[in-house]
Amino acid sequence: MTIFVVSPMKTDDIIKVMNEHRSIRFFKPIQPDLQIIHNAIKIAQRAPTACSGQMYSFIIINDSKILLELSERVKSSVLKRAPLAIIGCADVYRLKELVSLADETLTMEPYTALLQATIDTSLAFQNLNLYLEAQGLGTCFIGSILSYSDEIIDLLKLPPLTLPIAGLAIGYPDENPPKRPRIATELIMHHNFYSQPTKAALIDAITYMSTLLEQEGYYKKYANKENYTWKDHLKSKFGGKWMKNIETHLKKSLQMQFKL
Ligand SMILES: Cc1cc2nc3c(=O)[nH]c(=O)nc-3n(C[C@H](O)[C@H](O)[C@H](O)COP(=O)(O)O)c2cc1C
Repeated sequence: MTIFVVSPMKTDDIIKVMNEHRSIRFFKPIQPDLQIIHNAIKIAQRAPTACSGQMYSFIIINDSKILLELSERVKSSVLKRAPLAIIGCADVYRLKELVSLADETLTMEPYTALLQATIDTSLAFQNLNLYLEAQGLGTCFIGSILSYSDEIIDLLKLPPLTLPIAGLAIGYPDENPPKRPRIATELIMHHNFYSQPTKAALIDAITYMSTLLEQEGYYKKYANKENYTWKDHLKSKFGGKWMKNIETHLKKSLQMQFKL
């Protein structure tokens, strides 16, 4: 029996890149070499993909006028500061064309197609991101690409059955932030079945996240918010009206692109 072993050296390098990840939101005014970006997209394609459907498209935005227009439409200051961006799109359009060339019609329900394509796109996008980080580039995912997707579908000339899932702002880092905290691994790791978190563990998580982000001055630096904690962030992003407003846009895109 042949056993295939990955060399420990290479594994160490990959783990280091994953472990050192921090989102970068300030960039030097240097255009990244397009060849690095092309290589990253090739690496993205190595990610596993549901039924080999490869339901994604990546749009490189390196035209400064389009990048500016995009950043304004999705209200992203990080995107505005970046010299380059990639928009990751869930893409069922191309699959539909391929299936029709295989003399069949695409019979997936829109919600199945969208979920499968979102998984494919996310897995590939993080492969791409890790490659860029390994090349010394700084990146930040931009969720407002999805939130305001209805505003950019025409700008990017996206066909039906596609949805921009996220953007990635890319450039050489002009800041050196610390690693950001995560909640305790015990809260997200389960064995054999789901174990309910205790209230105390959840309160600890909020305190821990708030304390570490406060130490960095995170919300002051990136959102110009004083005395703002992770608890406030939970309230404002996942409760209240903020998400409701976003959902109005998203519903429009889902109707437009997937008839959902
Ligand atoms: C899907 C997704 C969307 C995101 N959208 C934004 C965004 O619009 N603006 C931003 O500044 N950061 C955005 N981020 C970055 C997160 O805020 C960041 O990953 C998180 O705070 C953890 O920090 P870290 O990446 O430095 O570890 C996004 C991340 C993901 C995965």
